[in-house]
Order: sequence, then C-alpha cells, then structure tokens
Amino acid sequence: MSASALPAALDWEDGVVVAIDQRALPGALRLLRLETVDQLIDAITSLAVRGAPTLGLAGAYGVALAAHTHDLGTPAGEAALRADAARIAEARPTAVNLAWGVRRALSRLAAGPQGVLAEARVMVAEDAAANRAAAGRAADLVAELAPGRKLRLLTHCNTGRLATAAEGTAIGTILELARRGLVEEVLVDETRPLLQGARLTAWELGAAGVPYRLCVDSAAAAAMDRSMVDCVLVGADRIAVNGDTANKIGTYGLAVAAARHRIPVVVVAPESTWDHELPDGSGIVVEERDAAEVTGFGGTRVAPSDAKAFNPAFDVTPAELITALVSERRTVRPRFGVTEPTSAEIAALL
Ligand code: MRU
Repeated sequence: MSASALPAALDWEDGVVVAIDQRALPGALRLLRLETVDQLIDAITSLAVRGAPTLGLAGAYGVALAAHTHDLGTPAGEAALRADAARIAEARPTAVNLAWGVRRALSRLAAGPQGVLAEARVMVAEDAAANRAAAGRAADLVAELAPGRKLRLLTHCNTGRLATAAEGTAIGTILELARRGLVEEVLVDETRPLLQGARLTAWELGAAGVPYRLCVDSAAAAAMDRSMVDCVLVGADRIAVNGDTANKIGTYGLAVAAARHRIPVVVVAPESTWDHELPDGSGIVVEERDAAEVTGFGGTRVAPSDAKAFNPAFDVTPAELITALVSERRTVRPRFGVTEPTSAEIAALL
C-alpha cells in the first residue's frame, strides 16, 4: 500500500488502540491492535509508535484504554488508572508530548471513560489542524529563501504522517512547498541507528512524488559544502523556553554544519512540543537506548562481541544555531529574540 493511502498512524476502534507498526515499514503495512496498557507501552518503547506528536496522542489514547479497563467508581480503580497513566508518561522521557497527552486526558477523568476518549479525539483533531497551520507558515518562510528558483532541502528522521495526525511538521512543510512547485530535491538523512529517514521519510516522500535522495547522516556536511542544501528542515521532541531544541540524534551536528555554511535551520513543531517549565535545554532528559541498536545492523552483529556503545536517541541543539522555530501560532527567531505574531494577532491589534 502506498503511504498516501495509509490509515492513521494511531486510532481507536471498539475499545482498542489500532496503530501502524512503524518498525515493519516500508516492507510491510502491519496494524497492531493494542488492547492493554502494557501492549501500548511496549509499542512506544520499541518505536512501533513514535514521533513526538503521535506520542502525545498515544499518551491520551493510553489513558482512555486504562479508563476502559479499571472501575473508575472505586478508589482502587482510580489509583490503578493513575499508576497506568504514570507508566505511559514515563515510557519515553524526551518528547514532552507524551506526558502532556497523558496529563490532558487525565484532566477529563471526571467525565468517565467516554469523556477521556472524547478528549483524545479532540487532541487528534487539534494536532491535525496545528500541523497544517505550522507547515503552511514554515513553507511561507522557507519559500522566501531562494526567490525565483526551486529549493534543495535537507531533513532528518521522520516528521510526517506517521509521526503526526496530518501530513507532518518538517515533512508537511516539504509537501506544501512541493505543491507550490518549489522543491528541486530533498536530501533525506538515513538517520542512524533506526533509519527513520531511510525507511519512513523516503517512503512518504516517494509516495507523494517528491524528488529525494538518501544520504548517510555523515554526508550532510559535505552536501552543504557542495552547495546542495538551501535549508535544513527538522521537527522537535522538546523545545525549552529559550528555543533550545531536542530532536533526533544528529540534529545538533546538522545545525553546527549549517552554521559553518550559513544555511538556515528551521524547526517545525506544534505548540504542544514546547516545554514551558524548562528555561533552557540543559534540563532536557535525553533517552539512551540499547547498545544493540548500534553494535548490530539489520539483526546481524557487526561490532566485536565485547563492544560497548553510546546510543543517545536525541541531542539538544542550542537556540543560537536555529534560524526559526515555527508552530501553528508563531515564528520564533531565537537569535534575534523575536517572536512574530500571526496575521490574526496583527489583525486583532488593528
Ligand atoms: O525516536 P523517534 O523516532 O520517536 O524520534 C522522532 C524525532 O526525533 C522527530 O524528529 C520528532 O519527534 C518530531 S516528529 C514530528
């Protein structure tokens, strides 16, 4: 099945969370039926369900699952639900959306299981709307970079329909630019070690007919040096108040290389990815994953049997290396301390 004909990355059907198993793509389109909180947590930790906005929705649907499992009318039932909610929120530490989704669904507990589920569905609709708005705003911004010619873009990890409730953040922006006839080529970082770029982004862009080429992550700086990149477009997992941004490991290196070559770095992410309690990125917890993801490849051990590995899933890019952070509501330019209001906000002032 092509990516454009895909079901939603995550849905609720008759008391069960139905998720695309992102580990199997692009080879197979497999749907997981997650009937218990444990199954949902396993899907999150194994990256069957992944990408910050989708994790937020998984958090909310997870609370709905728990609410349908436990008897909320009893103190023991409510305590069990809250324990499940805490386990879901902690399944992965870096994307702020996960705990946010759990908290928001919990806030509707008084309305019972159906109220919690209704809140999860509202969040899906909101994420889709936020996604489209942010992608449109970011496309306007990026389109100005090279007036009169098509753009060469570089992206990292997967920020598309598998990671969000609509077309995606950075990928949504690329698709919007492509609809405007403004994309010459997208360089897609393969995104070691789990290959979200090679497996998922390449699949989504190919299905949309957007011209792309894959490159190993370490080729990105060389591509910039050869003037093959007009703009780096990425998503985010957590953004601190000052604009420091956690995203897939390798993003910081991209931003360092982009600064060297004076290439803009644009982060596209919904407001739900901003962590208003963190003044800067130093407090962001970066998930460290199993060494086996690095010491092997495609299920085959490649490193010596006693090799250890450093395997952070994310890194933190300092705000000073980011040209703009674009959400559904605003464009923040951290280097200049500027937040641009939306046209609606400007209209309200007039
Ligand atoms: O480990 P993953 O695949 O969940 O990491 C995903 C990313 O880093 C994405 O860039 C981020 O979540 C934004 S998705 C719109």
